[in-house]
Amino acid sequence: MSGAPEGAVEILVCVKCRQGQPVGDGDVLPGARLHDALADQNLPADIRLTPVECLSNCTAGCTVALRGPGRWTYVYGNLDAGLAPVLAEGAVKYRDAPDGLVPWRTRAEHFRKNCIARIPPLESSE
Ligand code: FES
Repeated sequence: MSGAPEGAVEILVCVKCRQGQPVGDGDVLPGARLHDALADQNLPADIRLTPVECLSNCTAGCTVALRGPGRWTYVYGNLDAGLAPVLAEGAVKYRDAPDGLVPWRTRAEHFRKNCIARIPPLESSE
């Protein structure tokens, strides 16, 4: 994760998500709006924001993934730009959990209800 401190985590945001809506030429896609709204959240330096093109959850976008070394990876869907503050707060909790496992009761309700996938750390045998 060049450009970010050791132990840093990353938010991957699909900037191609359309939320199932028609989008005209020149319109900003909902996924790009979510990315821009997150960029406005003043994320800590050790939380990197990375735009990506499609996380294969197109029917339940907008979609993001949280990942980091030695941590579980989480994919969340059904997001929109208005949820950027919730996502930013969730990313801080994710960063502060050494293995990325944020206790269920402290997770944002949107995260509880819209987890698309969770993937064990590469370093884990679980
Ligand atoms: S276009 Fe966003 S997940 Fe596929």
